[in-house]
Amino acid sequence: DKGSHEHFMRKEILEQPEAVRRCLRGRLDERFHTVRLGGLEMDAREAREFRRVKILGCGSAYYAGQVGAQFIEELARIPADAEPASEFRYRNPVIEKDTLYVAVSQSGETYDTLVAVQELKRKGGRVIGLVNVVGSSIARECDGGIYLHAGPEVAVASTKALTNMDVAFALLGIHLGRVRDVSPADGRRLLAAMQRLPEQIESIVADEEHLADVATRLAQAPSLFFVGRTRGYPVAREGAQKFKEISYRHAEAYQTSELKHGPLALVGPNLPTVAIVPDDELLERNVGALHEITARSGPLCVVTHDGVDLGVPAKDVITVPKSEPELDPLLLTIPLQILAYHAARTLGHDVDKPRNLAKSVTVE
Ligand code: BG6
Repeated sequence: DKGSHEHFMRKEILEQPEAVRRCLRGRLDERFHTVRLGGLEMDAREAREFRRVKILGCGSAYYAGQVGAQFIEELARIPADAEPASEFRYRNPVIEKDTLYVAVSQSGETYDTLVAVQELKRKGGRVIGLVNVVGSSIARECDGGIYLHAGPEVAVASTKALTNMDVAFALLGIHLGRVRDVSPADGRRLLAAMQRLPEQIESIVADEEHLADVATRLAQAPSLFFVGRTRGYPVAREGAQKFKEISYRHAEAYQTSELKHGPLALVGPNLPTVAIVPDDELLERNVGALHEITARSGPLCVVTHDGVDLGVPAKDVITVPKSEPELDPLLLTIPLQILAYHAARTLGHDVDKPRNLAKSVTVE
């Protein structure tokens, strides 16, 4: 039931603070500055042994997997990457015994992801699930996992489940980090940051009117770029995905650093760029690339942190509260959901049920 909301997507965007609270409930261990993930069914010795992490999912779950891979690499210093589940299962992958495989899925029924899990199990791989729907096929196939507890999600474009995927990956990264080299002090710092998330998300969604105004302008362009680098890049990919799914505008994501190696040729007054610019060690380099865009009269919308003075003539500036740098992708993603929502709404599209797409694809 969407209650007084015009669309499920908006309802689900606004439910995120509560959804994140549910995902964190009972999982933060303040005594040892780590997290409790009983559903993993993995003791500390096992958790220490993995030398690689491979994440599999489809669509937005795959982009969440890219965010997750960065969390795990940064927090636990274990090499990690994400791959679309359908590609993985068709390329006869080498299964390694010291790799932790992670299947990510809101529905737990996506066929490509399910078959990838089955193929992994058949070859003796260790697979855990980050799944929202309790008791779903993928959850049952996995050797344990982390339930997302986002609550039922109806809109085809994933919002609260996607955010909780990021949250669950952060929990996994902290867990794998704290059985390795993350110090108690760093554990405490990260836990505190996790606890701040719900309120920080509240403050981002409270900026809806401004975001709707920006979205109305972006929606006029036939084509857009979303750019970001390192932590910002999977955010840009998810932002572009969401924008194209429901607004039917062409949106493409690039690493900001790659602009000068090709895509810059397209930048001009008719091609807006949404740039993800966290307040991190790459800030100055990012700003340099943004000047390349404005110098070509490319309309620029920057998503950055509160209090950052970019010194770039950006048409629009959207800010989010500062988290700990490792966790930046999580909050930076939220305004992009709201931009996509209002772009689609202003264009009069069926926001909750975009053409040609299904909430979960349970066939080959
Ligand atoms: C797609 C949906 O087909 O499946 C996407 O349209 C979704 O929104 C993807 O991200 C994966 O779904 P799930 O349920 O496995 O997370």
